[in-house]
Amino acid sequence: MSERTLVLIKPDAVRRGLVGEIIGRLERKGLTIEAMTLRTMDVALADQHYAEHVERPYYPALRDFMTAGELVSLVVSGDEAIAVVRTLIGATDGRKAAPGSIRGDLSLSNRENLVHASDSPDSAKREIGLWFPELAL
Ligand code: PPS
Repeated sequence: MSERTLVLIKPDAVRRGLVGEIIGRLERKGLTIEAMTLRTMDVALADQHYAEHVERPYYPALRDFMTAGELVSLVVSGDEAIAVVRTLIGATDGRKAAPGSIRGDLSLSNRENLVHASDSPDSAKREIGLWFPELAL
């Protein structure tokens, strides 16, 4: 069943010139890019996007990192796209992510881990509404 998911190519990936590499992996898998924007995330959007995490001890570091530079936001679609993209990205901590995954191949960090992707249908709906309100259902 075709699904939509929200993907953020994080500021570390933009800074390292990995945008094409990451989009290429999504495209080669057969996923479709429905929307894509180069932009920054302000603190208000970070607090909304990471609403489940704002009380966590790591949140200030996560917020500062995510608001410090340009990122690429995308809506990606395809068969079981939410789970498929999470598998392509790999485990949160790049040091532990499986080789072959984006983080496993390209990240050594659980903060500078290159990509965010929605983790459930409810998250995808909420996050697409935040980043691409014109596409919200
Ligand atoms: S996940 O992917 O949602 O299951 O990952 P989770 O472990 O719940 O982490 C949620 C996001 O928090 C980021 N994170 C951190 N940032 C900074 N410092 C530390 N120590 C840290 N630990 C976790 C992690 O990269 C996740 O970001 P997103 O954007 O959701 O991938």
